[in-house]
Amino acid sequence: MKKDILILGIESSCDETSVAVVKNGREVLSNVISTQIDIHKLYGGVVPEIASRNHVMNIDGVYKQALNEANVTIDDIDAIAVTYGAGLLGALIVGVNFAKALAYSTKKPLIAVNHIEGHIAANYIEHKQLEPPFACLIVSGGHTALVKMESYTERKLIGTTTDDAIGEAFDKVARECGLSYPGGPNVQKQAMLGEPCIKFTGMNFEKADNFNFSYSGLKTATINYIHNARQRGEEPNVQNICASFQAEAVSQVVKKSVSAIEKFNYKKLVLAGGVSANLHLREQMKAEAEKVGAEVFYPNLTLCTDNAAMIASAGYFNFIAGKSIVDPKTLVPTGNIAL
Ligand code: KG4
Ligand code: ZN
Repeated sequence: MKKDILILGIESSCDETSVAVVKNGREVLSNVISTQIDIHKLYGGVVPEIASRNHVMNIDGVYKQALNEANVTIDDIDAIAVTYGAGLLGALIVGVNFAKALAYSTKKPLIAVNHIEGHIAANYIEHKQLEPPFACLIVSGGHTALVKMESYTERKLIGTTTDDAIGEAFDKVARECGLSYPGGPNVQKQAMLGEPCIKFTGMNFEKADNFNFSYSGLKTATINYIHNARQRGEEPNVQNICASFQAEAVSQVVKKSVSAIEKFNYKKLVLAGGVSANLHLREQMKAEAEKVGAEVFYPNLTLCTDNAAMIASAGYFNFIAGKSIVDPKTLVPTGNIAL
């Protein structure tokens, strides 16, 4: 019988300190997430220095809890997978150094995982039968991109944002509306109470004959709308603004994704990254992709945002393919890495 493979995953790229144990890439034995949201809320966004310090304070306890909850010891673990980028450098350093020390002292293989590959792999945990090839839309705080997933470890970029990421636009609009960090879920809540009745100008993505995205025009148009209303002494209607912004933001990724799956003849479209938690995006994408005969997949809400189980899953698929296994003495975290 094939031996089970247990991967310990470590994630610290932003404001979540997380350690997980995952069996055979798809079965979560533990996924401990210590979030710093309440701390960063006070500042309206993530403060990198504070994030790093909290990772340092939390990581050892989170690691021990992850082993306990999985009911295993470090001796049972086959390999250690860690996010080495992209993300906040000071935050990444904490997880990477912890993983390096652990791998070195236990003589276990160390796998360097691209954070975005982790977001994609969250879908393998959620959908046990899901296998590449498929088209994947990555929508997070730092990325908006369409990729062709050709195998578990090989992908080709089809399109990316030419300016801001969709999550960043959600967060900036939220802040301007006086909504707290993280902005995306709060914009969604307000949007549910409003009507998408405002037409923002300044977007030109639809004219482009490619699969690239643009969010700075929509973000600026929305923020200008709020400023102009305030200058006239009016209190802007936050619910309608959020509903209108969200409708435009979602419509862009839906249109581009559907044209891509049609052009490249995919039957499966996978959503990955924090913004894939957005309910309007999920509904719209399902409805539109269905019209061209494609099925849409996304992870559950916990697996959408940053967590170490997705890193362990991506680590597993690299490990069994003999890829991304690195020397614990030399791995360096990287703030920006290509998809
Ligand atoms: O993937 P993620 O957790 O971190 C990065 O790797 O960037 O994504 C965080 C982003 C933030 O911009 C957050 O506002 C957004 O995901 N987000 C949402 C929702 N939940 C999280 N945006 C829209 N609607 C949501 N429900
Ligand atoms: Zn993320």
